[in-house]
Amino acid sequence: MGYRITPMISEEEVNARIRELGEQISREYKGRSIHLVGILRGAVFFMTELAKRITVPVTFDFMSVSSYGSGMTSSGIVRIIKDLEDPLTDKDVIVVEDIIDSGRTLTFLQELFRTRGAASVRLCTLLDKPARRAPGIDIKVDYTGFVVEDKFVVGWGMDYDQRFRNLPFIGVVSEVEDD
Ligand code: IMP
Ligand code: MG
Repeated sequence: MGYRITPMISEEEVNARIRELGEQISREYKGRSIHLVGILRGAVFFMTELAKRITVPVTFDFMSVSSYGSGMTSSGIVRIIKDLEDPLTDKDVIVVEDIIDSGRTLTFLQELFRTRGAASVRLCTLLDKPARRAPGIDIKVDYTGFVVEDKFVVGWGMDYDQRFRNLPFIGVVSEVEDD
């Protein structure tokens, strides 16, 4: 079995959109500083590019959670694989995600970070698949790069079975029979 990647969003389009998000965030947080919390591993590419476009002071932390097995569907349970290193107390947090699917991961993290004393918690995602929200999940996403249809995508940090994270564009992955 091989894979076909069909390009969906080009590197240039992603970079242009990240620049816009960075400008919007910089305006809205004028006079404050931002604590970016990136969700490993998928958000790394997006977060570093976004951070470069933010002009107010920025600090970073990372967390690793898992709601997925190795395939294409969510197990529904969110586990903390690696926790934050710094306390969130009184910080203005923006959680940075690669893609929102069922919405379970960000619902869980937003609630967790509020109980840990963050001054504010906003959500920022490169991609959103709103058609895939799980029943009963209702999250407000503050910053969205692109809304996409219900297709499994890779590239810009997003993987299929840990592959394709390094693709500089976003593409749709499908399995193809070998000849
Ligand atoms: P949620 O908790 O169902 O919203 O899951 C979000 C996480 O699922 C993302 O951070 C990704 O790691 C993963 N995910 C969801 N959809 C895709 C996709 O199309 N491609 C790659 N990873 C995905
Ligand atoms: Mg992820």
